[in-house]
Amino acid sequence: MWDYTDKVLELFYEPKNQGAIEETNESGVKIAMGEVGSIACGDALRLHLKVEVASDKILDARFQTFGCTSAIASSSALTEMIKGLTLDEALKVSNKDIANYLGGLPEAKMHCSVMGQEALEAAIYNYRGIPLAAHDDDDEGALVCSCFGISESKIRRVIIENNLTDAEQVTNYVKAGGGCGSCLANIDDIIKSVREQATAPALNKDYNVKVATDIANSKQRPLTNVQRIALIQKVLDEEVRPVLIADGGDVELYDVDGDRVKVLLQGACGSCSSSTATLKIAIEARLQDRVSKNLIVEAVEP
Ligand code: FES
Repeated sequence: MWDYTDKVLELFYEPKNQGAIEETNESGVKIAMGEVGSIACGDALRLHLKVEVASDKILDARFQTFGCTSAIASSSALTEMIKGLTLDEALKVSNKDIANYLGGLPEAKMHCSVMGQEALEAAIYNYRGIPLAAHDDDDEGALVCSCFGISESKIRRVIIENNLTDAEQVTNYVKAGGGCGSCLANIDDIIKSVREQATAPALNKDYNVKVATDIANSKQRPLTNVQRIALIQKVLDEEVRPVLIADGGDVELYDVDGDRVKVLLQGACGSCSSSTATLKIAIEARLQDRVSKNLIVEAVEP
C-alpha cells in the first residue's frame, strides 16, 4: 500500500475538473489540448485549457487520465493550480510544485507529477503553435530508454529540475530504466555529465554572490550598465541555460546594446524551427521579468 497524503486521497476519491472542455466557438476564447504518455506504457494524460485570448488567461482547465491514484490526484491538482493564471505564469509551474500542492508524492510515483507538467507545456505550446515535435526530431539519435521511449534531453531535464542523483530516482520520475534495465548504465553516465556541468558555474559562485550583493545594495538606484549586463549574464547562466541544455540546446550572451540583448543560440536551439519562440518565451520573458521589462532579445548568426 502506498503512503499517500490526505490531499492525494481527497483528489483521488473526489477529483476536481475531470472531463473534457468542448469547443463551443465562444468568441474571445480558445480551447487548447495537450497529451502525454501512452496507455501501452501504463499512464496517459490529456489536459484541456480554456484560454481568454485577449488576456492569455486560463479560464478553465480539465483533465482525462488513464492512470493510478497519484496520476488522478496530480492531474486534478494541476488543473486547480493553473486556473486564473496567464499562460506565461502557468509555464512556470513545475512538477515539484504539483507534488508540493499534494503534500508530497511517494518517490516511485513522481512520474505522475512530471506527466502533469509535460501535458501543461504541450497544451500551451499547441495553443501557441510551437512545434514540440521539432525537439523530438533532434532527439531521434538520443533515445536512451527504448522500453519507455525516453530521450536523453528528457532525462537531463528531469535530473536538473529535480536535482536527481541516481538512476533509480530517474526511473521514479520518468520511468526510464524501469523495464529491461539495459539503459541504466547510460542513465548513470548522463547523471555524471549533468553533475559535471553543474559544477562549472560554481567556479563563478563568488562573482555571482558579489553581483547579487551589489544589486541588493543598489536598492532603489537604477542599475549601472555594468550591473545590468552582469545581471543579464547571471539570469542566463542560472535560470535559462540549464533548461535549454536539458533540451539539447544552449545560449551565449553576445552583446547588450541599450535594451537589445543579442544572443547566440547553439545546438538544438540554433537549428530548431521553434528557436524564435524559444527566444521569446524562454529567454526574453525571463529577462524582462528579472532585469527589465524593456529588454528585447535578438538572435545573432554564429
Ligand atoms: S531500455 Fe530502458 S528499461 Fe529497457
